[in-house]
Amino acid sequence: MVATQVYQVDPYQPDPAAIAAAAQTLAAGRLVAFPTETVYGLGANALDPAAVARIFAAKQRPFTDPLIVHLATAAHIAQVATAIPPEVAALAEHFWPGPLTLVLRRGPHVAPNVSAGRESVAVRVPAHPVAHALLLACGLPIAAPSANLFSRPSPTTAQHVLDDLAGRVDLVLDGGATTIGLESTVVDLTQTPPVLLRPGGVGVAALRTLLPELRSPDAPVVVTDTEAASSPGTLLKHYAPRTPVLLLRGAAGDDDQRVHILVRTLHARGLRVGLLLPDEEIAHYADLHAELVSFGPAHDMAAIGRALFARLREADSLGADVILARPVAEQAAAGGIGLAIRDRLFRAAEGRAIDAADPAALGIVLSVVRREIDRG
Ligand code: TXA
Ligand code: MG
Repeated sequence: MVATQVYQVDPYQPDPAAIAAAAQTLAAGRLVAFPTETVYGLGANALDPAAVARIFAAKQRPFTDPLIVHLATAAHIAQVATAIPPEVAALAEHFWPGPLTLVLRRGPHVAPNVSAGRESVAVRVPAHPVAHALLLACGLPIAAPSANLFSRPSPTTAQHVLDDLAGRVDLVLDGGATTIGLESTVVDLTQTPPVLLRPGGVGVAALRTLLPELRSPDAPVVVTDTEAASSPGTLLKHYAPRTPVLLLRGAAGDDDQRVHILVRTLHARGLRVGLLLPDEEIAHYADLHAELVSFGPAHDMAAIGRALFARLREADSLGADVILARPVAEQAAAGGIGLAIRDRLFRAAEGRAIDAADPAALGIVLSVVRREIDRG
């Protein structure tokens, strides 16, 4: 355990003294959590393998899951990557600083454990003024995964970071809530054509203007073996609350009656149900004995993206036995950040979905709850 120091900073004009303290902490091989425009990161000096090892220990993250290296500007890329392909210049010009991560060939100075022993390295230039100030002040590339315990929802506030990592991180820069709320888009440029490894803050449609060949899966990629995965963020159980989540497969509005019946039946069996829904649907369930959590207006993907992880944590804190969640509609999500929202909800639910109109739905929910109780 370490004593975690917390510094409140203005997100636009962070106090130079706080930034200097954080930069010194990094230079000393210790861990600093800091806001980026996507989620909070848990940073260490990317050139120091002992410091990087601390990240894995603090998060309880498997050593096989590689980290993203953050840079102050695109000009620093040669510090960490080699054989940089020509399309990087235009991508950097267009999307950096911002929520795009590029997987490139790893340079010789990067600590090998950053990349979990791979020959590649993931890099991004974050847009958040606090992250930028920290990168400039320490003059180091910073390896930083999301600052949550492994497989929990990513942190979008400093409080989320402390909830998971108090006593495990040396210093936290609290710059308020992050603005995008979902992690960066990860694109692998070591493969030809390039491959989308994780949907995120930059939409696929925007990326294709510069990478017309970009390959992206139609449905969320699911892998179970960390070692074999080209991007272990694709593990099925990820971003998951402790309470089991099941997705409601029906279209909002069409299955209200069925959801009512299902929730009442579960309630009659002594189970507490949480419902995670868009704003518009909340009113339909006001009369139910269910805990209601709204994640924003159904068609406002930016608002949902900003709120999603906080709402997942909130739903998790209700003491419910199960959370039923409505995914955003496929059409509303197409092309942009909505794809990332669908991906994160799918993984929070470990891929489980029910159709409330299907007579089998009750049995599925009960078996999931029972399995969770058996797990302890
Ligand atoms: O927005 C973000 O990307 C945040 C902020 C803090 O920058 N970071 C983040 O890191 O989400 P993390 O570790 O939670 O997710 C990194 C993702 C994982 O899916 C990881 O497997 C993938 O990037 N990744 C990292 N290095 C890789 C590599 N060399 N090859 C393939 N995938 C890689
Ligand atoms: Mg993460």
